[in-house]
Amino acid sequence: MKSSNRGVELSESPIRSLIPYARAAVAAGKEILHLNIGQPDIRTPKKALQKVLSIPDDVIAYGSSEGMESLRKRVAQYYEKFDIEISYENILVTTGASEAIQFSLFSCFDPGDEIIIPEPFYANYLGYTQMSGIHIVPVSTSFEQEFELPSTEAFYDAISPKTKAIFLCNPSNPTGKLYSKASLERLAKLVKDQNLFLIVDEVYREFCYDESFYSVLNIESIRDNVIVIDSISKVFSSCGARIGYVVTRNDDIIQAMVRYAQLRLCPPHFGQVLAEACYDECDEYLPEVKQEYSERRLYLYERLSQMEGVRTYKPTAAFYNVVVLPVDDAERFCKWMLTDFVYDGHTVMMAPCDGFYIDKSLGKKQVRIAYVLSKDKLAKAMDCLEAGLQAYNTSEHLVEVDAI
Ligand SMILES: Cc1ncc(COP(=O)(O)O)c(C=O)c1O
Repeated sequence: MKSSNRGVELSESPIRSLIPYARAAVAAGKEILHLNIGQPDIRTPKKALQKVLSIPDDVIAYGSSEGMESLRKRVAQYYEKFDIEISYENILVTTGASEAIQFSLFSCFDPGDEIIIPEPFYANYLGYTQMSGIHIVPVSTSFEQEFELPSTEAFYDAISPKTKAIFLCNPSNPTGKLYSKASLERLAKLVKDQNLFLIVDEVYREFCYDESFYSVLNIESIRDNVIVIDSISKVFSSCGARIGYVVTRNDDIIQAMVRYAQLRLCPPHFGQVLAEACYDECDEYLPEVKQEYSERRLYLYERLSQMEGVRTYKPTAAFYNVVVLPVDDAERFCKWMLTDFVYDGHTVMMAPCDGFYIDKSLGKKQVRIAYVLSKDKLAKAMDCLEAGLQAYNTSEHLVEVDAI
């Protein structure tokens, strides 16, 4: 028996092809410094974890499909910090932002519809749109312009009669770009004018280093068009808790989403208890975490700027950076770092950027670096990357690579 065609055709993660090489590197005794995934090394809020461990229930029963009312009210209260006035009834708890994305796509689109997304974008968006039968129309952003939001004209050019929505990730994974209030308000005019949904993934909202974060939920003129995706995975370093949210003032969309939510019964109970307790620790926990990421970002920027042939910029948000490397092919180089290179017992794993683009050629020399390691590990990783680039670019090596 064989799997379905759609199962076979579903896009793979950009690092999928590197995983066997990473496993072989570990088996060969190399330590891998993982700059390839968005799994933070920061501790989860301690008191919140203790709350989960002291759950008094004798039976972990199904809960409400919309999520625990007390958590939804707590999230609504948290949004006040961003001047967002929202009722808890406009917030649904989901199994991570991942499910919030799926609910949004299933609720706003029919198969055959089109969605406009600036590229490079978080690679899983591709899989979710494929699952929903939606076609992505990319608008390109460029390294040279530090991945600034495309012009309004570029968005207009991408619109067709099938376009239902624009989808953004703000702050952006993979670029670490924060979109300004002015650029979001410009886009809002187009969204209103063309009667589109504006879906924005804001899971990195707490990690903005130079300017403050502005949510599309603040734009009054498009109240009915906006859907926001959120999550505790990154903000509270709780990726395994699987708690996210979808937030919209559009009643039609909420009702459709509740129908999907009922199909999967309820979001995880332990995760919801953790999430609610995390918000109580916000003021104590988040400033320190943000400071730590900012220091890592500046260190990374300094080290990368000093490497011969490497092109970089100072990311303003999230914990990612797209870097142009002086190599023939970034994927080939990332693989080589795992298979052929070792520096003081370790090597570095990065995510080649072609998987974040629809037009793969745009990311051919780019990698995404996630600064989710402590500063001493980042220092080791940068030493290793610098030595790796020098070794890779020797003529001796190129002969070897060409012979593969
Ligand atoms: C932009 C973006 N959205 C969504 C997710 C998934 O989040 P969650 O763990 O809440 O499902 C990630 C995870 O890396 C992400 O980077």
